[in-house]
Amino acid sequence: MAKKPFLNFQVDHMTLLLQPDLYKISYLAFNTIFGVGPDDLLYDKRKEWVKGEGEQSMTYAVRLGQGASPDPELNNTIIAVVQPTEPKGQSSHVREMLDGHQAAAHWQHIALRTTDLLAFHKHALERGVQFITPILKDEEEDLIQVFSGEWYFPGIKASGMFFEFLQRNPSEEHVKIAQSMNRESWFRDKTFLGLYGEKEREYQSGEVTPFLRFDLFNLLLKEFKDKQIWQITPADLQRAEDMMIEHTKKVSK
Ligand SMILES: [Fe+2]
Repeated sequence: MAKKPFLNFQVDHMTLLLQPDLYKISYLAFNTIFGVGPDDLLYDKRKEWVKGEGEQSMTYAVRLGQGASPDPELNNTIIAVVQPTEPKGQSSHVREMLDGHQAAAHWQHIALRTTDLLAFHKHALERGVQFITPILKDEEEDLIQVFSGEWYFPGIKASGMFFEFLQRNPSEEHVKIAQSMNRESWFRDKTFLGLYGEKEREYQSGEVTPFLRFDLFNLLLKEFKDKQIWQITPADLQRAEDMMIEHTKKVSK
């Protein structure tokens, strides 16, 4: 089967969670060891959680390199870094993702760029993939993005690892379709937009959306648990895909 063009993913950026002490040192390291210069600091977002206590750096992103393609914007090697900045007594999904895994550092998501996010989104939904946001238009950059559920399975702590899928420089038509989809599906809390708020909501409620529905995960595991991966044939893969599509159809009725 030929690969669909929208499945030719490029790494757009990677997001790394760091404990606060490491967050500071990482900034020094990216500048001095990785050669990041002033032009390579793509953003630095701050927030004052408690009035009067001063702003904290929540997140920053650095460009570690640029490729040689005619469109340099699509050839950056970018790492976005996030630290927990919420006051001690306040819930923080970033702190929980790190402390909960006794980790100083945690790769939270890899953003994969597609040429057609709407087509990929539909393709993934049909196969049982769960997303924690509708397709969002980034406020500052010309891109549309969507965030998947986390890679984990029944009976284990959520991993804190997921994917972002995005399309840069989307056509006006794509943006319009994405916006009309948002109106229908983003009614839960209009003021709580974006990844950060949605992850916080999930971690506070204790209900972290998995990438694949748990019932589908179990179904696939049961079907393939006795096979080593090299024993999985093309026919098996077709059956797995059929199971995903059929199961998703059945449960979304
Ligand atoms: Fe991202």
